[in-house]
Amino acid sequence: MTLNQPIKTEADELAGTTAIVTGASRGFGRAIATTLSAAGARVVGIARTSAQLDELRDELGDTFTPVTADAADPGVAARLIDEYAPRTLVLCAGVSPTMSPLHEQTWESFSQTWNVDVAQAFYWTRQALRRPLAPGSSVIAMSSGAAVNGSPLSGGYAGAKAAVKFIADYAAMESQRAGLGISFVSVLPRLTPATDLGAKAVAAYAGLQGVDVDTFVQAAGPVLTAEQVGRSVLAIAGGQERDHGAYLLTAAGLSPVG
Ligand SMILES: NC(=O)c1ccc[n+]([C@@H]2O[C@H](COP(=O)([O-])OP(=O)(O)OC[C@H]3O[C@@H](n4cnc5c(N)ncnc54)[C@H](OP(=O)(O)O)[C@@H]3O)[C@@H](O)[C@H]2O)c1
Repeated sequence: MTLNQPIKTEADELAGTTAIVTGASRGFGRAIATTLSAAGARVVGIARTSAQLDELRDELGDTFTPVTADAADPGVAARLIDEYAPRTLVLCAGVSPTMSPLHEQTWESFSQTWNVDVAQAFYWTRQALRRPLAPGSSVIAMSSGAAVNGSPLSGGYAGAKAAVKFIADYAAMESQRAGLGISFVSVLPRLTPATDLGAKAVAAYAGLQGVDVDTFVQAAGPVLTAEQVGRSVLAIAGGQERDHGAYLLTAAGLSPVG
């Protein structure tokens, strides 16, 4: 780039392109859909219940398309990738894990996150490679800081999120090997009480330590907000932050993993 060349912003990169965001009805996914929409992308937002998606459509207008569907269904991944050929695909849907210690889990509760979060990452990522998405596209998968630190009260969650990160890593290798030009990036947010899923986990870990939620949150330091998650995903989708395959995400921002 020469000194006279204008610096491209995320909006320059994403305006008029299509993004699919799973888990768009609330929490991180809703903030990501809102941020991508503000950057000029047409956003297709997916969740299983329609009320909050319709509300978001009222908020964002006609460039937001709500789709009520199960993101862990392989047929849904194939149909929507074929129909919309997204430039940006954000895999943010996630089931709220059953919060209890290992000996109180059943195999069914332990494996919930594998059947939703990991299945989603697997089906959509596979389809992104098989179709394939156009060169310059990005697939951003929501893993978790728990993939590094563990999460003793949420059954198979930490392992599932580690698998999500590995799926993105493997896909990035395949994309490079085949010269597809698709970026696969995983994001590992720190636990935050800012969403329904996070608030439930924070309450459980506060209980484990025998403190109230406010004390637990204060001791943990600055809180990651859903809006920060939205801005960080925008930076990756817009190409400003895509040099690494995985990023930890805290209130201080993105930092490469490993
Ligand atoms: N909050 C945290 O502290 C934190 C930290 C690290 C990672 N994460 C990860 O970030 C992602 C978003 O979490 P969040 O905190 O924003 O959770 P949230 O507020 O509970 O939102 C979850 C979203 O996923 C949707 N969803 C769940 N299962 C789905 C399915 N099978 N198909 C389609 N949509 C589905 C939900 O809508 P419906 O229920 O209507 O389907 C909702 O829109 C998750 O993958 C989570 O594991 C969260």
